Amino acid sequence: MVVGEPTGLGTILTERFGGEEDEIYRASAPGRVNLLGGHTDYNDGFVLPVAIDRRTGVAVRPQADSRDGNDPSDRTVRVHSTNVGETRTFSLDSPTSEESWADYVEGVARLLAEDASNPRGFDMVVGGDVPMGGGLSSSASLELAVATALNEVWDLGKPAAELADRCWRAEREFVGVECGIMDQFVVALGERNRALFLDCRTREYERYRTDDDVRVVVTNTNVGHELVDSAYNERVSQCREAVELLDESLSDDVASLRDVSVAEFEEAKGTLPGTVRKRCEHVVYENERVREAAAAMESGDVRRVGELMGETHRSLRDLYEVSCEELDFVVETAETLDAELGSRMTGAGFGGCVVSLVRADSVEPFAEAVRTAYVAETGIEPDVFPCAVAEGSRVEDRPSN
Ligand code: GLA
Repeated sequence: MVVGEPTGLGTILTERFGGEEDEIYRASAPGRVNLLGGHTDYNDGFVLPVAIDRRTGVAVRPQADSRDGNDPSDRTVRVHSTNVGETRTFSLDSPTSEESWADYVEGVARLLAEDASNPRGFDMVVGGDVPMGGGLSSSASLELAVATALNEVWDLGKPAAELADRCWRAEREFVGVECGIMDQFVVALGERNRALFLDCRTREYERYRTDDDVRVVVTNTNVGHELVDSAYNERVSQCREAVELLDESLSDDVASLRDVSVAEFEEAKGTLPGTVRKRCEHVVYENERVREAAAAMESGDVRRVGELMGETHRSLRDLYEVSCEELDFVVETAETLDAELGSRMTGAGFGGCVVSLVRADSVEPFAEAVRTAYVAETGIEPDVFPCAVAEGSRVEDRPSN
């Protein structure tokens, strides 16, 4: 059985919680990497991510109804994670206070239950091959897999963009990270061989074909630094501070950093204190890079996309200060290799993964060179793997009647 493969998860579900396989709903959702647009989403800006062929699967069986002698208003949820090897139980009626991986499931279930006429409890098994905490959005992947399944189980009829919105709210309200919409959106709406250019303010999007001769290669540094969430929320509030100051000093209204052009930033940057100025400079120029990258993708200029990724990395490293030595080492090593078109850290930062664009015929030697250099430098074994650009969340199977 492939880990996370929804059929295998169904068997685990019946073995663990009982019931029949033909009562099971199955859904899955991918991880993602971000080609351009780092820390722009919560500033109402632009992003250019792709969904990847690493997925989280869920199998769900609603609590048996009263025909089986069950209480029809039973709102108990039992959820087992094959990755964590743990089962958690909660009730849809009252939030649990304990923090755990199951918060993502509970947060999504609780928000979606508000829109269901009679949300019954359920048993669920989750599992997959998106590395947890590696910057590939394992959390949004889990959220969307759960939401896509519950959309069926509770017959909610919500389109993918609305599920993405609910999952985003769940992460902010329930898990407490002030994240932007990028991860949930691309995990829900990604398409095979297409990058998604998203305007995070209007949520309008455009898809651009990826280049068949170029592969997305992920290097997981296998380091994670502490306090990622608090450092992330600190960046969010520094951006808010920049917005308040620029709203005073610029003649146009500034509701978010999205509203600040490069020219306006250059004119007003003297009014910003040092750290806030650096954060703001990153966001303002990064939005420009994303737009330029989208245009380059449209015209098939993948070399330019790669160059912009390198600029993004340096800006995240020097101005936004969310990189770390291991990520920088991988990017610098990758940049010395002929097959590489561009590399950058992906996700929130402080560890996790680098994403590179690599010529398709040289993926193996590229991976081996990065691996060897990284082990020699750090003594840590990285995971270097090519990814296909994959489809977003989807229902895999539902009971036939
Ligand atoms: C995390 C967040 C996203 C985004 C990125 C940085 O992945 O979940 O919303 O802000 O960091 O670009």
